[in-house]
Amino acid sequence: MAGKIPAQFIDELLDRVDIVDLINGRIQLKKAGRDYQACCPFHDEKTPSFTVSREKQFYHCFGCGAHGTAIGFLMEYDNMGFVDAIEELASQQGLEVPREGGQHSSGPDLRPLFKTLEQSASFYAQQLRNHTQAHKAVEYLKARGLSGEIAAEFGIGYAPPGWDNLIKQLGTDKEGLQHLRVTGMISEPEGKCYDRFRDRIMFPIRDRRGRTIAFGGRILGDDKPKYLNSPETPVFHKGRELYGLFEAHQALRKIQQLLVVEGYMDVVALAQFGIRFAVATLGTATTGEHMQQLFKVTHKVIFCFDGDRAGAEAGWKALKTALPHMRDGREAKFLFLPDGEDPDTLIRKEGTEAFSRRIENATPLSSFMFDHLSKEVDISEPGGRARLAELAKPLMSSLPKGIFRDILQQQLNEMVGLDTMHIMTDAHQAPAPKRPVTPPKREKPIPLVRRAITLLVQHPQLALIQNLPEKWRELDSTGTNLLGKLLELVQNHPNLKSAQLVERWHGTEEYRHLSKLSATELFIPEQGLEGEFRDTLMAIEQQIRTDELNKLVEKAKNEKLEDQEKNRLNQLLMENSGQK
Ligand code: GTP
Ligand code: MN
Repeated sequence: MAGKIPAQFIDELLDRVDIVDLINGRIQLKKAGRDYQACCPFHDEKTPSFTVSREKQFYHCFGCGAHGTAIGFLMEYDNMGFVDAIEELASQQGLEVPREGGQHSSGPDLRPLFKTLEQSASFYAQQLRNHTQAHKAVEYLKARGLSGEIAAEFGIGYAPPGWDNLIKQLGTDKEGLQHLRVTGMISEPEGKCYDRFRDRIMFPIRDRRGRTIAFGGRILGDDKPKYLNSPETPVFHKGRELYGLFEAHQALRKIQQLLVVEGYMDVVALAQFGIRFAVATLGTATTGEHMQQLFKVTHKVIFCFDGDRAGAEAGWKALKTALPHMRDGREAKFLFLPDGEDPDTLIRKEGTEAFSRRIENATPLSSFMFDHLSKEVDISEPGGRARLAELAKPLMSSLPKGIFRDILQQQLNEMVGLDTMHIMTDAHQAPAPKRPVTPPKREKPIPLVRRAITLLVQHPQLALIQNLPEKWRELDSTGTNLLGKLLELVQNHPNLKSAQLVERWHGTEEYRHLSKLSATELFIPEQGLEGEFRDTLMAIEQQIRTDELNKLVEKAKNEKLEDQEKNRLNQLLMENSGQK
């Protein structure tokens, strides 16, 4: 890579970017006072603790403590590296990222490669108009129903027959030839070099910024190979790029959904028929990197496959790849076309409206998953149901925590029969799972109690709310004991203000903590305080139950449970699924 990014540039970038807009493009924010709120995308919760401040240009979650700038958000949420996050923000602002010491300080300068690829694309486009044999290509495209407009929009061109048309254009000096070599535009078996693409329809593959980074070339007839793609190069990584993403961005101001299809021709045909949100993988299965790219620009992805066996298999594979990316607020659907059709043939046959209906009626991820699993077992049998639980387990645990996963878990519980679920699969049937459905590690009990204390210290009147949850008192810990004492004190002295409350602890161990907590910023609007306090207390209770549940499940794996323990386990499972 190139040199270090100057700190000044990062400051300037953060000045220009608005974190509210950035985050709002990914999760829906609600205005709350001067700030914006949502359920935190980084932990599991039901009431919003995630706050974005336009004024401070920070996000902050007082539930899990996630905190950062626009750059930090992209790194966390889109899984980007620091430099990538900066590049992304810069490109949104139309800025080039400067590097200290200029471009050559370290790593190669990629600009000449982009230039070569751009010039190649222009050359092919021009050949489609001017070459003596261009009529063949034009007729082919016409026969396939492509309009001139759409061909122009996608930059479709023609690589004429012959060994060195492109070399003669761009490879006349050593440097030019080298750029052709590095961008994969020429082949060199046994030291002889010639144009990689000959007598083919050329599809430029563009990155998200519209730069040509590679080509796909289709033969005009039925010869093999039907398609030839650029090899992997410094600017082209097949497993990451999506054909048509740039064009979709150009056509639509806001991409509500993306349809993932298999072929170049599918993308182009769909666009011609007004479906401007289709993209294609480049002859590979959908990868995790593709998922990241897709969910970076939209919340909703529909994966489209042929109706044959291979299509169904590819669909299942895509589902498994999608699962780890299914954060709350994201949606994936699956569309299987009639056997023998692809989007290109089908939309030409039945038209835009009928095809759009298919998209609308695509199968939700959950139905696809459970239908597929149910086909492999007999769920009328207890053994079949246990097997279903076992098959579902790795899939469920690859889902990020959140409401979506809870809903799926509940659906699965219903199919399996709640009470058998943990005992049967964990204790007797399944081999030790890689990751249990409920992770046994204690999840942030202390932050929850600390949050309750912080709320109370800053807003003592919360202690006066009627019918506060009480069961959290069962947890005998320093934190809960202190919380109890604070509540009691305010209930006996209802006029205590925050500072006075803290001062009551003067000279004790806890004093330092309490004063610190009284000064931490919570970002909670006044009207949300009561709900937040209640929710926090209930979350502590939930935590206690989860811990107990995990202990019992863990025990059930290794030894037989007493009847009493079994009953308790069932009760906890029930409460758990009722809770969520
Ligand atoms: P046509 O409609 O026949 O032009 O092709 P298509 O766009 O429907 O493609 P198809 O469904 O046959 O294949 C889907 C994708 O797989 C293509 O767009 C290519 O990316 C890739 N592909 C297909 N055939 C080949 C091939 O022979 N070699 C390589 N490398 N990739 C191919
Ligand atoms: Mn096709």
